[in-house]
Amino acid sequence: MKLYRVIAAALVALGALASCKSGIEADVEKTLKGMDLDAKIGQMVQLNIDLVTDDNGLDEAKMESVFGRWKIGSILNVYKGQAQTREKTAELIAGIQEASMKYIGIPCIYGLDMIHGASYLSEGTFFPQEINIAATFDTKHAASMGSVMAYETKAALCPWIFSPVMDLGRDPRWPRLWESFGEDAYLQSVMAVAETKAIQEEGVATCLKHYMAYGAPFTGKDRTPAILTEQDMREKYFRPFKECIEAGALSVMVNSASINGVPTHANKTLLTGWLKEGLHWDGLIVTDWADVNNLFTREHVAADRKEALALAINAGIDMVMDPYDTLCCADLKAAVEEKLIPMSRIDDAVRRVLRLKYRLGLFDNPVWDVDGFDKYASEEFAAVAKLAALESEVLLKNEGVLPIKKGARILVTGPCANYMRSLNGGWSYTWQGSSDAAYVDRFNTIYEALSAKFGKDKVRYVPGVEFDEAFWQAEKNINIAAAAAAARQVDVVVACLGENSYCETPGNIDDLNLSSNQKELLKAVAASGKPVVLVLNEGRPRIIGDVEPLAKAVVDVMLPGNYGADALADLLSGDANFCGKLPFTYPKHVNSLHTYDYKVSEQVGVMVGEYNYDAVMDVQWPFGTGLSYTSFEYSDLKCNKDSFKSADVLDFEITVKNVGEVAGKEAVLLYSSDLVASLVPDVRRLRAFSKVDLQPGESAVVKLSVPAEELAFVGQDGKWHLEKGAFRFAAGKCSLTLNCTETTIR
Ligand code: BGC
Repeated sequence: MKLYRVIAAALVALGALASCKSGIEADVEKTLKGMDLDAKIGQMVQLNIDLVTDDNGLDEAKMESVFGRWKIGSILNVYKGQAQTREKTAELIAGIQEASMKYIGIPCIYGLDMIHGASYLSEGTFFPQEINIAATFDTKHAASMGSVMAYETKAALCPWIFSPVMDLGRDPRWPRLWESFGEDAYLQSVMAVAETKAIQEEGVATCLKHYMAYGAPFTGKDRTPAILTEQDMREKYFRPFKECIEAGALSVMVNSASINGVPTHANKTLLTGWLKEGLHWDGLIVTDWADVNNLFTREHVAADRKEALALAINAGIDMVMDPYDTLCCADLKAAVEEKLIPMSRIDDAVRRVLRLKYRLGLFDNPVWDVDGFDKYASEEFAAVAKLAALESEVLLKNEGVLPIKKGARILVTGPCANYMRSLNGGWSYTWQGSSDAAYVDRFNTIYEALSAKFGKDKVRYVPGVEFDEAFWQAEKNINIAAAAAAARQVDVVVACLGENSYCETPGNIDDLNLSSNQKELLKAVAASGKPVVLVLNEGRPRIIGDVEPLAKAVVDVMLPGNYGADALADLLSGDANFCGKLPFTYPKHVNSLHTYDYKVSEQVGVMVGEYNYDAVMDVQWPFGTGLSYTSFEYSDLKCNKDSFKSADVLDFEITVKNVGEVAGKEAVLLYSSDLVASLVPDVRRLRAFSKVDLQPGESAVVKLSVPAEELAFVGQDGKWHLEKGAFRFAAGKCSLTLNCTETTIR
């Protein structure tokens, strides 16, 4: 800690920096003027920490090469590929900064993948994954996750995190669905904006990812091509990026795959056109992992690295994450010397790198005092993370079995029953969320949390099926008969089924069905005649249509994190009430994967007779489903306008009453439907939501505002159209229709 005791100073808050923008620009220009081409190129490159370390920590010879010879501007990733203490992380970053200042005179910017809390620090506070945060329908949880993860990251001397993820989880086959805030563009946007602001208020830079439409691969497999309409891109996939950039986001990481045949890393229209010029944005664009190389090795749009670099940098890339080696430096220099990349583009890219470093105060304080940070990994942070988990777990079905009565004898079974990996998912201690054994002893699995809640003597654990540590899709120790026998001895069975942890391309699957072993386990325990509570612990909705009727209750806990099992025990016992709602559509059939905002003509109904065919919306649970131990009645939906034009703001009110016996929170979701439009309209779109907390018998008037221009769609001409005609608004079972009296095109 020597260096940063000496240089000790607090990281300057970004808000304060914003007010001296012109000062920063002058500093950027001055620094740029002093740099030769080699120095400029080095600042545009980001390497993996392996290139400056060995088994014993920082390697001086490697640092001399990386910073002295190549003048590299950024390092990423966790040392040895697994979580480190904050002290170790700070020590490494301090040493890197010292070398960067000594050899280049420019601070390094270090980046870490903190996705759901400080998930690469061994003691860090883990929140539920973003998919769960979305299920809370309360932006306060996105904000608290952002603040805590930034505070703890800063406590480890790291100024930059690759978060929030905003890919829109619209295809359940895609292995990264759980990393973002669900399938809806509005929900994704408001959650990501709350997280972005919270992170940056702590003085840490966000990196929005993965720009854009990464979540829409045609095949469902990670990093494969997307085929998308311009309407969907502009209305849905672009929106969260636009809103986070307008909220001050400082950097963006790019989608690894291609859209409509153009690899996003080579897409000048999207990178320079939409993002930089369209939003007048002066932030930094970094590639994803080795994605310049992928332009020639995988995408075949360039013959070699030099051509790939020229394509990407000319499209708008500012920093090349080339984690494995420094080869790109020489190729980038050759590309500039051969005039494949204009010097003006290099200067613009370097300005963006320097600007980010100045904005973070790194030139004045490359390191800061990390001795304080008393709230790091505190009980206070744990309580906030647990509350987020509690409000995110979704009750999908309850035929009188929940809450489980105190004194009941319980069998806990299934591969997720006594397993922390499945609660956390990927990006937890390691990339794949594997090898967590050294860190998770202090947290409860579902079995442990239920034992603590209901009494050790009442709760029995017989796995039936276990996950194989070696390969996430493999299962072992199959003994379904033992679980079935145990089921006959208890009053209620809690079957914890789902997925082992995974992440990115290794998480690809060939069948969206829940594994057959697990379905067999559910059938066997249900055959005991004892009521079964099915707990789904999974990163994406695995299909259970054939076995779901066997469960008397279903709870989807998704990936609730280290405190998720304690939250579940509170919920299953009735000590707390459910209030989460599904932020995605849970499919029922493998060939019917829909989103809630499907085109009206995706649902054409059934024709009988000779021409019998159908296109029926038959999903397991719609977006927004979420039950409670109480019931809410909606009435009196009103709007301040009878009709409207584009500039109006529609202020809605609706009365919500708790008509049940226990207190509960209800997320009120307001949807709009454009009844007739010049392009086939979406059946409905979420426009606003708000959560209320009501005692039994209590009611509240919930206010929800929708700027009328939000109701516009992107027409064939690429412009935003708000067309004359009827719009229906609905919340719960209440609805009203308003007329738009004027067509506006912008
Ligand atoms: C992932 C990114 C991540 C990056 C750096 C990539 O493989 O797609 O989400 O930020 O690695 O670790």
